[in-house]
Amino acid sequence: MSRSAHPAGPRYADVLPEGGHGAAPADVNRLDRKIWPGGVVRDAGSGALTFAGADVRELAREYGTPAYLIDEDDWRRRAREWVEAFGADADVFYAGKSFLSVAIAKWAADEGLHLDVCSGGELAVALRAGFPASRLGFHGNNKSVAELERAVDAGVGRIIVDSHDEIERLAAIAADRGVRQPVMVRVTAGVEAHTHEFIATAHEDQKFGFSLAGGAAADAVTRILKHAEQLELTGLHSHIGSQIFDTAGFEVAAHRLTEALAAIRRDHGIELPELDLGGGLGIAYTEADDPAPVAEIAARLKEIVARECDAAGLAHPRLSVEPGRAIAGPPGITLYEVGTVKPLPGLRTYVSVDGGMSDNIRTSLYDAEYTVSLVSRASRAQAALSRVVGKHCESGDIVVRDAWLPGDTAPGDLLAVAATGAYCRSMASNYNHLLKPPVIAVKDGTARVIVRRETEDDLLGLDLG
Ligand code: LLP
Repeated sequence: MSRSAHPAGPRYADVLPEGGHGAAPADVNRLDRKIWPGGVVRDAGSGALTFAGADVRELAREYGTPAYLIDEDDWRRRAREWVEAFGADADVFYAGKSFLSVAIAKWAADEGLHLDVCSGGELAVALRAGFPASRLGFHGNNKSVAELERAVDAGVGRIIVDSHDEIERLAAIAADRGVRQPVMVRVTAGVEAHTHEFIATAHEDQKFGFSLAGGAAADAVTRILKHAEQLELTGLHSHIGSQIFDTAGFEVAAHRLTEALAAIRRDHGIELPELDLGGGLGIAYTEADDPAPVAEIAARLKEIVARECDAAGLAHPRLSVEPGRAIAGPPGITLYEVGTVKPLPGLRTYVSVDGGMSDNIRTSLYDAEYTVSLVSRASRAQAALSRVVGKHCESGDIVVRDAWLPGDTAPGDLLAVAATGAYCRSMASNYNHLLKPPVIAVKDGTARVIVRRETEDDLLGLDLG
């Protein structure tokens, strides 16, 4: 379609520059159920969004914008769905890197999840929440001695070792304390999966894990077994990527991991009792994304592991998985207020909100796509091709690259961006000295601030002049 000069005013849904935005939606007020949290409804009268029973306009008035909102029931329901789908003979470790706070760690504990942490900071949050240390897993390619000491002292249930250096360090720490620390070996299975594709040949060239193909994983196992008094090797771990929609990559990884388990039995005469397939299952950010139900994924992964183990004559190991985004992403939205609206004739409308790349770096970092909606009222205006941008001094400060928003979107309107519960607050920054937004849990119409908004005093408290 040509980039014709558009008619006067902001109504130019007929103008379609190239891009992945598709056609204007028939109803710009419609909310796609697979993208938005379970507790989101558009009020038939006002057209405003009710979020877990609370009117977003009131939430904005009370807590300000930008704000991250979490639908607590939806979060907990997803957690339970994972735990139930994998059943009693598997463990679901919530990947805390997607978003962790003391309240979230408590929800995870309540719902029967285990918890993965990957830094001393995440460990501190889990411990502050009283999360049972025996249900913690500790990841990372460069855990410091202090972090390892703290994990061992706390009684962390499993440490996923990622380098020869770490094996020696951890063995020394365990010897010093007179304890035997359970560990898993993170392997690079030679599979990399992202969204709908996976590649199962190379991808050894990365910082994580011990290569299966190159023999480093076998060396790591031998080294750990040499430290058998200090380190208890419980199994192998692999994580193949993120935002994955089919199980083919996991199938290849499971095949290679069971081959490795069989080789360990052959070389050392032991069958390791655990296998961790990592996280990475995808969620719907836009209508184009179509995640399979968790029960289906669980059944498939269990079947793959069982089949591979049967073929290798191995007892079925206890399976674990590590979803982050799939639990934390969909229940969260970000609420913004529109500050300025700038129609660019023949191109699109730039709608600026009061946050940006400091509260959601994913669009600029990964070209991530999001769904955004006007949530403080309904609109009958024609949809206008828009770009939702932040307030940072950088032209790459884009929140939603291609969005169809009502053509009458105006300063003071509230916009919500869906599926921001994972990797938004956890990757937030203070770029341009913006203050990090609060995280507000909403349940049955009642809101509770679980992480408060930063203040200028917080910022300046670090600045020693
Ligand atoms: N387990 C391990 C060992 C991981 O490294 C990760 C994510 C997960 C589990 C959880 O993956 P999930 O189910 O959330 O996809 N910042 C990026 C994602 C980085 C993920 C790193 N590891 C993003 O915003 O998309």
